[in-house]
Amino acid sequence: MKEQNRGGFTSSFGVMMALAGSAVGLGNIWRFPYLAGEHGGAAFIIIYLLMVLLVGLPLVLTEFSVGRLSRAGAISSFKVLAPKSVWSNSGYVFMLIGFLLMGVYSVISGWALHLFSDSVFGEVSGLTAIEIKDDFSEFRGSVWQPIAYGLSFVLLSAVIVGRGIEKGVEKWNKILIPVLFFMMIFLCIYSTTLEGWDKAVTFLFAPDWSEVTIRTFIDALGQVFFTLSIGMGVVITYASYAKKKENIFKSKLIVSAVDTSVALMAGLMIFPAVFSFGLEAGEGPELIFLTLPTVFAQLAYGKAFAILFSGVLVIAALTSAISIFEMLTTIFIEQLRMTRVRAVVVLGVMVASLTVLCAAWQSVFNAFDYLSSNVLMVLGGLIMALFFGWRLSKKQSWSVFTNDGENSRGVYKVFIFLVRYIAPVALTVILLSALGLI
Ligand code: PHE
Repeated sequence: MKEQNRGGFTSSFGVMMALAGSAVGLGNIWRFPYLAGEHGGAAFIIIYLLMVLLVGLPLVLTEFSVGRLSRAGAISSFKVLAPKSVWSNSGYVFMLIGFLLMGVYSVISGWALHLFSDSVFGEVSGLTAIEIKDDFSEFRGSVWQPIAYGLSFVLLSAVIVGRGIEKGVEKWNKILIPVLFFMMIFLCIYSTTLEGWDKAVTFLFAPDWSEVTIRTFIDALGQVFFTLSIGMGVVITYASYAKKKENIFKSKLIVSAVDTSVALMAGLMIFPAVFSFGLEAGEGPELIFLTLPTVFAQLAYGKAFAILFSGVLVIAALTSAISIFEMLTTIFIEQLRMTRVRAVVVLGVMVASLTVLCAAWQSVFNAFDYLSSNVLMVLGGLIMALFFGWRLSKKQSWSVFTNDGENSRGVYKVFIFLVRYIAPVALTVILLSALGLI
């Protein structure tokens, strides 16, 4: 691919922020706390952390390396690196996941946008838990509202991606991610003043192994994929636009650490509030949308906190959605030889239709969600591990990982061992059990 025509990131910091922006999203703030809540807190977190290290980080590294080697998007990468082989069409899996996930993601992001606009324009204080539950059911039940908010969100993402990597993706991530990080730190510090803080810390850090089942492992790994944006070609895409050579291991370690700490911070923001006001930790997907407004309703300066928190949520969602959208856009530009703007318009219409389907039918939403996060992303990860570990030559993988022997030589051995042996076995087991085969 000709680098000069594609544009690209202007700095390593920009690449890092974009990757962090992709990783930090609803997965950290909305999904992680409710999964931890359902699976007994700390035990889930420990399993999750282990999986980040053993499977997540190695896979981020394979994807980044593939994008860097090929300088092409999620489909073309395989065509460039393994032409005319069984591998050359494997990237289509990533495109499929991108579409399914975009539908699901835009719906929840729409909920977040709704929470934000309610916080800004609506009445926040004085509402009771019952009123909040009713309001939320009314919002979801009206159907047109979730659709309208979901579509506004799609439009917002499309506009940013349409501006290109440098002026859209890089610029916005560089602004939004630091803002998000500081807002979260502030909210976390505030949480320490709530009376439920101690209980939340115990819940999050003292393991209760009795809740752990095989399902815990499936959900933990699904979460690792989801939160680190792996198994769907997003990292390949961003890496293909990175111009400067850098210490890949170090920068991906930082991205994974940022992602993990944001998830833990989200837990520390949400559970003290949940416990302080006697709410349910295992509330499920609606956890933050029901619990937090209840909390804000009772706090001094509740409105300011509500705006701050829902702002965090929208920013996190937006920087992630942009990355999925960018992956699809790059594919359309490369495969269909479209201009960026045309690709974004065509994709915008397609994604908008999927969003409507997901917002209108819960069963479609559930099917898309399960298929993308629990099945296809794991398959995508398996493809990456096998492709990188067994198809690329040792010379290729070594030189891209270590920057031709400049750094991380010691870690390479551990990395390649995890990629060749541990990841494929773990992923196959999880995939078979997610499909109900074992
Ligand atoms: N990582 C994002 C999150 O945690 C979701 C995502 C998945 C984004 C896959 C891009 C690709 O919310």
